[in-house]
Amino acid sequence: MTIKRIGILGSGIMGSGIAEVAAKSGHEVVLRSRELATAEAMVGGLERSLGKQVDRGKLSDEDRKAVLGRVRATANLHELHDCDLVIESVVEDLSIKKALFKELDLVVKDEAILATNTSTLPVIEMAIETDRPDRVCGVHFFNPAPMMSLVEIVRPLTASDATIATVTAFADACGKDPVEVKDRAGFIVNALLFPYLNNAVRMLENATASRDDIDTAMKGGCNFPMGPLALLDLVGLDTSLAILDALYDEFRDPNYAAVPALRRMVSAGRLGRKSGHGFYDYTKK
Ligand SMILES: NC(=O)c1ccc[n+]([C@@H]2O[C@H](COP(=O)([O-])OP(=O)(O)OC[C@H]3O[C@@H](n4cnc5c(N)ncnc54)[C@H](O)[C@@H]3O)[C@@H](O)[C@H]2O)c1
Repeated sequence: MTIKRIGILGSGIMGSGIAEVAAKSGHEVVLRSRELATAEAMVGGLERSLGKQVDRGKLSDEDRKAVLGRVRATANLHELHDCDLVIESVVEDLSIKKALFKELDLVVKDEAILATNTSTLPVIEMAIETDRPDRVCGVHFFNPAPMMSLVEIVRPLTASDATIATVTAFADACGKDPVEVKDRAGFIVNALLFPYLNNAVRMLENATASRDDIDTAMKGGCNFPMGPLALLDLVGLDTSLAILDALYDEFRDPNYAAVPALRRMVSAGRLGRKSGHGFYDYTKK
């Protein structure tokens, strides 16, 4: 099956980014959020992002109009019924994702593939909520999705070869570089990245070095484009905490045990860029 129409669930950082990637690569996109106003705001965000690309000469005005013409916003799950691929990208909470997969399975046409953009959660747990576990897999985009080339294609035990091949071809069609990985918490990137990010918070908590010096050190010393604390703010501290908790649940490795300071920041609503305040303050212009 060739994927033509995509459904996207969730209007957060990742849902919006994936919508832009899919629509720009010629796919029809149906964006579904629980509130119509939020789904429409997501289309508004896409409009602004494409407008900037036109201003910078990276996109023609004709292409901007064509991309927007391929995107539709809805609050009604039933409008995803004729999608070939639905990508779930709601909050990193297994019980919420499982309930959505159960509901999606009843609504979306039989031959469609249901995928999750989870960063760490077991894809198999979502697959077995459906009557099509062979047509469920992970398709893990990176943040910001329009800029990052990697997509991890996550294969739960139940996924068919045809499903993995179809979703890999979709990632290729989006201009991404897909890699295949088994359904293990954190897949490749987050399993390797999060002990490092967690230890950066520990280092700050222990007052080994200041925030700015930790970030400067990892940029200058390892040639990373961002320091670990700025990266945590970009990912979202709530999402990062959920990722660490899922990694720890699966492997019981102390490197994955979230540093208390991170948990306290999430309790305080300091979620990073999306809330205006994390390790850095984003409210100042
Ligand atoms: N932030 C990242 O860097 C990143 C990168 C790759 C993958 N992911 C994954 O993408 C998914 C979404 O993350 P995000 O960063 O876009 O989060 P976000 O906080 O920006 O957005 C979460 C979305 O979930 C929706 N939501 C919350 N509760 C819900 C419910 N009960 N039912 C339906 N929708 C609900 C919210 O309205 C919002 O649209 C997560 O699974 C996350 O692990 C995140």
